[in-house]
Amino acid sequence: AKLKRFREKLLAWYAERGRDLPWRRTCDPYAIWISEIMLQQTTVAAVIPYFERFLDRFPTVQQLAAAEEADVLKLWEGLGYYSRARNLHAAAQDIATNHAGSFPRTAEELQSLKGIGRYTAGAIASFAFDERAPIVEANTQRLYCRLLGERGDPKSTGVQKTLWQFAETILPKNDCGLFNQALMELGGTVCTIESPSCGDCPASRYCVAARHDLQQQIPAAKRR
Ligand code: ADE
Repeated sequence: AKLKRFREKLLAWYAERGRDLPWRRTCDPYAIWISEIMLQQTTVAAVIPYFERFLDRFPTVQQLAAAEEADVLKLWEGLGYYSRARNLHAAAQDIATNHAGSFPRTAEELQSLKGIGRYTAGAIASFAFDERAPIVEANTQRLYCRLLGERGDPKSTGVQKTLWQFAETILPKNDCGLFNQALMELGGTVCTIESPSCGDCPASRYCVAARHDLQQQIPAAKRR
């Protein structure tokens, strides 16, 4: 019952406060994939114009597969981490030749593609196909650690296992894509690193860290 209320609060908050971002207007797995790869090391504001240019130039996975690598890299100029662009191009060619040009539809198949790990596979599968696939990345990881009151190192194997398990438990039966977007949005805009806005958070009543005023201590800082 508590989980049900948490889900309702989160979705109501997202409907009211969630940003209208270009990759949230599409169910095309190809476009979602491009956005998620761009967003891996780059901010939302910086990604938007690159995302739009990229899709104008290569609207389908077939067109990306047929492109010259140099043209793909050219479009990537300024985003950095160029291996992302090379992996995108290689994976597009893999899809075109080995998947009969149709985009893989499950998180499991998606993970076999170059540059697609567990998070990106879950994001594409849930956003495009509403698969009940959990997601854990920087924003949601911080959010889950605080909700759980998890004081361990988020990168450790044990804590990772806890976080993936939690991410799966909280997913509703339906509309998992929407729910995952809402989780990411909360982690990215309210449950921030430096100054989490617990007063504006729809989940603060369900949050162990907020209840014990531990949001500054959780997640544990990286040890060097
Ligand atoms: N960062 C990574 N994926 C994102 C998404 N779908 N929306 C907003 N920020 C993100």
